[in-house]
Formats: sequence, C-alpha cells, structure tokens
Amino acid sequence: MKKRFSFRNRIYVVLMASIIFGLAGWYGSSYVGAEEKKFLADRHQTKGIACASCHKESPPKEAVPTTGCLGCHGSYAKIAEKTIKTSPNPHASHMGELSCESCHHAHKASENQCADCHAFTFKAP
Ligand code: HEC
Ligand code: HEC
Ligand code: HEC
Ligand code: HEC
Repeated sequence: MKKRFSFRNRIYVVLMASIIFGLAGWYGSSYVGAEEKKFLADRHQTKGIACASCHKESPPKEAVPTTGCLGCHGSYAKIAEKTIKTSPNPHASHMGELSCESCHHAHKASENQCADCHAFTFKAP
C-alpha cells in the first residue's frame, strides 16, 4: 500500500514539473523583448556591419560560410575564450569545430545543436 502511494506520488511530481517547466518555457518565449527578437544579422547591422561585410556576393544569395564568420571573429580558440565562463563551453567541446551555422543563424532564431543529445540550456545569440 505504502509503495503504491509513493510511486503515484513520484508520477505526480514528474507531471507537475513538466507542466510548470512547459508553461514557463512557453510564457518566457512569448515575452522576449524587442531587442532580443532581432536576429543576428540585424544585431550586426546595429554594430555597423552591412550585408556586404558578411555576404561576398551582392545582392546576397547564399549562406555565409564559417570561414566568413572567422574572418572577423578570429578563430574557434578566440571565441571559446569569450565564452569560457559558460559551462560547458559551446565553442570548445568534444564536437570539435562545428560550423557556426549549427547554432547561430543570421536571419532566423538561432538554435542549440548540443540539445540533440544533451539538456544544456544554451541560448545561442
Ligand atoms: C565584418 C565582421 C564580422 C563578420 C563577417 C561577422 N561578425 Fe559577428 N560580430 C562582429 C562584431 C563587430 C560584433 C559585435 C562585437 C562582438 O560581440 O564581438 C559581432 C557579434 C557577434 C555575436 C554576438 C552578438 C550578439 O548579438 O550577442 C555573434 C554570436 C556573432 N557575431 C556571430 C557571427 C557569425 C555566426 C558570423 C558568420 C555568419 C559572424 N558573426 C560574422 C563582426 C563580424
Ligand atoms: C554548439 C553551438 C554553437 C556553435 C557551433 C557556435 N556557437 Fe557561438 N555561441 C553559442 C552560444 C550558446 C553562445 C552564448 C554563450 C554564452 O551565453 O556564454 C555563443 C556566443 C557567441 C559569441 C558571443 C561571445 C561573447 O562575446 O559573449 C560569438 C561572437 C560567437 N558565439 C561566435 C561564433 C562563431 C563565429 C562560431 C563559428 C566559428 C560559433 N559561435 C559557433 C553557441 C555556438
Ligand atoms: C552576420 C553576417 C550576416 C549579415 C550581416 C547578413 N547576413 Fe544574410 N545570411 C547570413 C547567413 C549565415 C545566412 C544563412 C541563413 C541564416 O543563417 O539565416 C544568410 C543568408 C542570406 C540569404 C539567403 C537566403 C537564405 O535564407 O539562406 C539572403 C538573401 C541574405 N542572407 C540577405 C542578407 C541581406 C540583404 C543582408 C543585409 C540586410 C544580410 N543578409 C546580412 C549572414 C549574414
Ligand atoms: C550526437 C550526440 C551528442 C551531441 C550532439 C553532443 N554531445 Fe556531448 N556527449 C555525448 C555523449 C554520448 C557523451 C558521453 C556520455 C556522457 O557522459 O553523457 C557526451 C559527453 C559530453 C560532456 C561530458 C564531458 C566530456 O567531455 O566527455 C560534455 C561537457 C559535453 N558532452 C558537451 C557537449 C557540447 C557542448 C555539445 C554541443 C557543442 C555536445 N556535447 C553535443 C553526445 C553528444
């Protein structure tokens, strides 16, 4: 009798937790500020970086390759240095040097590639 109760209790806790976290996630995502809603390319523009600084062809037609990003951002090592306080470091992991596009998108919301396998709560800008 006692065993059944605690089992049910555990199910209840798991259910409540998923409902609460689910709601919090949904609520949070609908409350992003205007600044955060801008995509990465827009934020580059506000730093004075025009379309042509990322895109070689004009008008832009194709995605910008990782080498294009590294032209300004230096190297993976340099970027990893900037995010050294984030654990684990998204720029220094067993995944090696992923293409920037695995996480960062310029004209749509970025994503967290590590989430394919892990539950890290990274938020790629
Ligand atoms: C012409 C130079 C240049 C190119 C090319 C460039 N960036 Fe940047 N990027 C900057 C500058 C300058 C900043 C603002 C200062 C900083 O955070 O380093 C910045 C900021 C960022 C940030 C932080 C911005 C934020 O809003 O938090 C990310 C992430 C980023 N760049 C990723 C990329 C990726 C991915 C690419 C390739 C698709 C790229 N950058 C191409 C110059 C460049
Ligand atoms: C596995 C996903 C992933 C990949 C791949 C990735 N990033 Fe990031 N990047 C992130 C996350 C997550 C953050 C935010 C980290 C934080 O909040 O500390 C970030 C932050 C940054 C920043 C801002 C650093 C700062 O000043 O705080 C820059 C610049 C950046 N990334 C550039 C790049 C470039 C360029 C590439 C490709 C060479 C790249 N990233 C590849 C996930 C990634
Ligand atoms: C930070 C570098 C960066 C800047 C600045 C930038 N782009 Fe892009 N652009 C990209 C990347 C990376 C892609 C690949 C798709 C993505 O990540 O959203 C892309 C894709 C594109 C595409 C191809 C369509 C597609 O969806 O793949 C077009 C068209 C484009 N950009 C136009 C522009 C224009 C116009 C500007 C200036 C207003 C601009 N881009 C500024 C990085 C940049
Ligand atoms: C294809 C699945 C997969 C992806 C994607 C992935 N990982 Fe892993 N990761 C693993 C496996 C499997 C292990 C080893 C088992 C474990 O400890 O969980 C691991 C272990 C780790 C560890 C434990 C310490 C270590 O280095 O062994 C860290 C930290 C880690 N991953 C970070 C990352 C980061 C950061 C990313 C995104 C850039 C990432 N992982 C993407 C599968 C993945």
